[in-house]
Amino acid sequence: MSLPFNIAIDGHSSCGKSTIAKFIAEKYGMRYIDTGAMYRAITLYCMRNKIIQNKEVDLGLLQNSLDEISINFEYNSDLKKSETFLNNENVEDLIRGIEVSENVSIIAQIKEVREKLILLQQEIGKSKNVVMDGRDIGTVVFPNAKLKLFVTASSEVRAKRRFDELVIKGDIVSFDEVFGNLNQRDEHDTNRKINPLIMAKDAVLIDNTDLSIAEQNSKIDKLIYSKI
Ligand code: DC
Repeated sequence: MSLPFNIAIDGHSSCGKSTIAKFIAEKYGMRYIDTGAMYRAITLYCMRNKIIQNKEVDLGLLQNSLDEISINFEYNSDLKKSETFLNNENVEDLIRGIEVSENVSIIAQIKEVREKLILLQQEIGKSKNVVMDGRDIGTVVFPNAKLKLFVTASSEVRAKRRFDELVIKGDIVSFDEVFGNLNQRDEHDTNRKINPLIMAKDAVLIDNTDLSIAEQNSKIDKLIYSKI
């Protein structure tokens, strides 16, 4: 079965948006787009090209560089996941590290960056059958999406999940560092002037602090069936 409509998923950092999106993509034959990966890829570009240094952004340089940045996704059938490419380089692993996480919410506040990525996301969404996750998908990117989810969980549970992921990958980080970074990103995401993280009026709230994956999936199935 494939669905003839887009699904918007928004929510706090590390709340399991991508787990939900991947479940929907696989079960309902939809294309999954992780918009956080796009902001992360631009951040990596900015770090490499000294557009951001010590949390300070050279706006002029960024504006002049935006046209040089191309971002796309390719499905890796061995890993069964879509990977992020920055100017044709696979940066999937690099963009998930703590350095990019520490800078991304600064880059994501910049109007020109958001305009570029929102246009790209809306273009991808024209094909319908897309499940997209981020912070402003239901409010800005797809305001007419038929199904909008707003996902959250307690900040301790979210930090523990992200910490476990990083440890498995072999990153050397402390829980406190991950917890601090997560709270800082929540703060930036919800308080920024342009397109802050807010729940769309017509979104369904999913708090998965105490939900198992199976319980969550069954909730999602019911919501999707209610829209078919
Ligand atoms: O989902 P994530 O943690 O990978 O997102 C990384 C950062 O990008 C996050 O701090 C907020 C920002 N972001 C955004 O501002 N808008 C989106 N649609 C997606 C992510």
